[in-house]
Amino acid sequence: MRLLLVALFLLGVVRLAEGKGRTAEIKDQDEEEDSYGDELMDKKEERRGKTPRLSRVRTEPRAPRASVPTKTLKSQEEFNCPIGCNCNKTHVACVNADADASLFQQIQPIAFPALDTLVLTGNRFADISGKEGLFGNKNQHEYLSLVNLSDNRISAISQQTFINMPHLEWLYLSNNRISTSSKNPFGGLAKLKKLYLSNALRKQAISEEHLSTFFDARGNQLVHLESIDLSANNIKSLSKDTFCKVSGVAELLLGKNQLSAFDVAKNCLNGLRRLDLSGNSFTSLSSSLFDSLPNLNALDVSDNPIECECEMKEFIAFAQKENARFLNQDRTLCASPAALHGQSLFRVKMESVCVPKSSNIFSNLFLLVLFGTVGFFVYRFYRHRIPTPAVFQFGRSHPPPVYREIGEGGRIIQSRGASPEEEDSIFENPLYTFENPAWAR
Ligand SMILES: *[C@@H]1O[C@H](CO)[C@@H](O)[C@H](O)[C@H]1NC(C)=O
Ligand SMILES: *[C@@H]1O[C@H](CO)[C@@H](O)[C@H](O)[C@H]1NC(C)=O
Repeated sequence: MRLLLVALFLLGVVRLAEGKGRTAEIKDQDEEEDSYGDELMDKKEERRGKTPRLSRVRTEPRAPRASVPTKTLKSQEEFNCPIGCNCNKTHVACVNADADASLFQQIQPIAFPALDTLVLTGNRFADISGKEGLFGNKNQHEYLSLVNLSDNRISAISQQTFINMPHLEWLYLSNNRISTSSKNPFGGLAKLKKLYLSNALRKQAISEEHLSTFFDARGNQLVHLESIDLSANNIKSLSKDTFCKVSGVAELLLGKNQLSAFDVAKNCLNGLRRLDLSGNSFTSLSSSLFDSLPNLNALDVSDNPIECECEMKEFIAFAQKENARFLNQDRTLCASPAALHGQSLFRVKMESVCVPKSSNIFSNLFLLVLFGTVGFFVYRFYRHRIPTPAVFQFGRSHPPPVYREIGEGGRIIQSRGASPEEEDSIFENPLYTFENPAWAR
């Protein structure tokens, strides 16, 4: 009897547990339908051109359940991922999504608390200089270390733009058209290491003065910045203290601009090791560059129209001696003089640089050809002006005069060519007619 009671009791407990399990399942299914409803709403809103609601931010990741095998569950990050983007715990990428700047509002720290890499390229953000930072409300992405904003038609930035990412180390802003910027726009990025601004500035919009305010860092700002890429920006000149306030810069990339001089103020860029000046407009260079940049050990001056003339002799000698400090040597060529055109600065013979002009065989040859040509034309011009009697012309251009001796009744007595001795007497005689009209007088 007691045994029976115990057994019944156990059965009851098991039933109860099963019942609870079932209600839990029903609840979960409800939630599932709720979120599905949310998605439907979003789609409707999207069609009306509104941005999806942010209210559905879920902070707790849902544990996967074996009881719903057909539907794979989304992680929190996938669930909050903006349309057109790919997301996981640490990465958000929206490539060629053609989104405007409101996209940033959908990448909130509360939805992506562990975000460390943000790649937003191929969008149209235009002006992102707003006061509240990219993500609004001063919301901070604590772990964000790499932001790629290349190729987004960005036109304006400010120091406020980047206030929400205190630990950013890599910032890519290449291929934009920035024409407006506050002073020192990157000053708030205390951990910034690498800054990529290749083809980022709107041509002709950013002046030398404007550019020098880009790196106007105060106190301990930008102390970790070690690499700045400003290549392909049509920069024509740089003020010599542009980079003085970013003392830790070891790499400066200024290739594919239009610089013809690079001067550095005293005690600037002391830590610079690598300098790219390739593809600019330098016609001459001075080895004193290495005096003002004591740590420089990788200089690229390739693809410049270098004139290997007398004032370059010292630099060329230096370059050949210290060639381990130069990059792309086979593309570092003399543009002039003609005798050295196309030769590598590192292989020209020192004795052929700065040769006095008079002993230059090429210029002598040139003069010879010039005088010859002038003489020929003078001859051709006057040749036709000097009247020469036909008989004195070189060669005989006419056939010998042929005459006919006409007898009585118009009978031709003889018809033959005249010998030179006969010519005069023939011309005088009215009885003769000439077949060749040029000889008729
Ligand atoms: C997130 O995605 C990126 C590339 O899309 C990948 O490299 C990374 O390992 C992923 N991280 C996690 C935690 O899955
Ligand atoms: C940044 O985006 C550009 C354009 O999509 C791409 O070419 C580049 O490789 C990206 N760099 C990084 C580090 O993600």
